[in-house]
Amino acid sequence: MGQLSREFNLTQLANRYGSDKGTAVGNAHHYTLFYETLLAPRRENIRRMLEIGLLRNGPEVGASADRETGDLPSVRMWLDYFPNATVHGFDISDFSFFKNPRFVFTRGDSGNGADLDRVIANGEIFDFIIDDGSHASFHQQLAFLKLFPALERGGIYIIEDLNWQPDNYEESLPRTILTRELFEYWFRMGKFPDMPGWLAPLGELSRDIAIVQPLYQPFSDYRTMKSIVIQKHW
Ligand SMILES: C[S@@+](CC[C@H](N)C(=O)[O-])C[C@H]1O[C@@H](n2cnc3c(N)ncnc32)[C@H](O)[C@@H]1O
Repeated sequence: MGQLSREFNLTQLANRYGSDKGTAVGNAHHYTLFYETLLAPRRENIRRMLEIGLLRNGPEVGASADRETGDLPSVRMWLDYFPNATVHGFDISDFSFFKNPRFVFTRGDSGNGADLDRVIANGEIFDFIIDDGSHASFHQQLAFLKLFPALERGGIYIIEDLNWQPDNYEESLPRTILTRELFEYWFRMGKFPDMPGWLAPLGELSRDIAIVQPLYQPFSDYRTMKSIVIQKHW
């Protein structure tokens, strides 16, 4: 499919390409209604973005990482929405079938620091990073530690679906605090709680954060934090 007109907003693109970030497909998270207000002013200026997690029904719900992948709805959406951006995708399943001069794919596991390092091995700096991967707390936090330093000043980092963690991953991965609790603390205190061990570097990252904006979805029964928008200091 060719690139759609810039008159299409993010929700229209999500619904058209089948991302559940919009209002029509799958869990219809309605995130795009808010993202539009956040991203529309940056639409022409986003040059490099990264999404973690590219197609629903992966290993987070028990499928094999080697499943068949025939589509990547949100990448198609971002490519149309940001006409000047290169879109990097990171996923444990293989999406190398998708050829587009503005798409760069890295296959890897969010639970493996060396895999995440490969995303930024060439010194990439992103204007926008969105984590829609497995939603496991350990994955979200390791990715944030590794990739937030690669966010441009003033850039935006979003972590989605903080209200749902997959049991299969939560049980097999190292135990850690829920990501929404970490950011709820930042939201109230302007810093992360002191964390031991591998999470200790969060303290350093605190200083680079300008805004933490939690999203509570008003379109369903959810009353816990759904997603978090983090803006880096200019
Ligand atoms: C919720 S889906 C992404 C949906 C997509 N962004 C959209 O809007 O249509 C989650 C994705 O995370 C990927 N994933 C699951 N476990 C992962 C892991 N350990 N490392 C990296 N990606 C993983 C899955 O393969 C799947 O593509």
